[in-house]
Amino acid sequence: MKRLVVLISGQGSNMQAIVRQCALQGWPAQVVGVLSNRPDAKGLAFAQEQGIATAVVDHRAYESREAFDDALSEAIDALRPDGVILAGFMRILGERFVQRYAQRLLNIHPSLLPAFPGLDTHQRALDAGCKVAGATVHFVTAELDHGPIVMQSVVAVRADDDAHTLAQRVLRSEHVIYPQSVRWWVQDELVVQDGRVRHRAGLDQTCFFTES
Ligand code: GRF
Repeated sequence: MKRLVVLISGQGSNMQAIVRQCALQGWPAQVVGVLSNRPDAKGLAFAQEQGIATAVVDHRAYESREAFDDALSEAIDALRPDGVILAGFMRILGERFVQRYAQRLLNIHPSLLPAFPGLDTHQRALDAGCKVAGATVHFVTAELDHGPIVMQSVVAVRADDDAHTLAQRVLRSEHVIYPQSVRWWVQDELVVQDGRVRHRAGLDQTCFFTES
């Protein structure tokens, strides 16, 4: 049974999707803790309702990024996790932190990486006239929104989309690919070689996301 800790900063809908699919599909895993850097993160209430341990490590209480990372590591390690899942966690983590959880630290970013890392991804995709957008699940490396890609969703950009409507549609696709990716990791189905990730049995690592 793999122990998962999920880090959030906001509503935590990806975390909720992971918790739900883990239970529904009976993964050999358990979300043992949900941590947030923001005391007002809405997702904390969901986790508490599910009986999952929660903790807040407020970044504003620390003088440096390193001091925050160390406090966060301490809170994570207290839960003895096998995997650490960043799900809408809006802090940049330093190299030492990333090294500590290397190969077992996953993130989701709402763009087709390597396009549009960082903030305002949806507006930047619209401004660039992109016809498709999407999301990327990847192993975390010290470089922001970078690292071996586990899975991507592809979402059509509509002519009348604004950043909000596009973000909502991409988010719904995230709820498909993030639980799927975490499940594969939990079940040791991912092989990372030369910076590329493949599914051991060759399962499709793309999701062309359409809604009726
Ligand atoms: C998601 O789009 C995630 O990719 C991005 O922030 C959003 C968080 O959503 N980093 P939620 O907190 O999982 O609902």
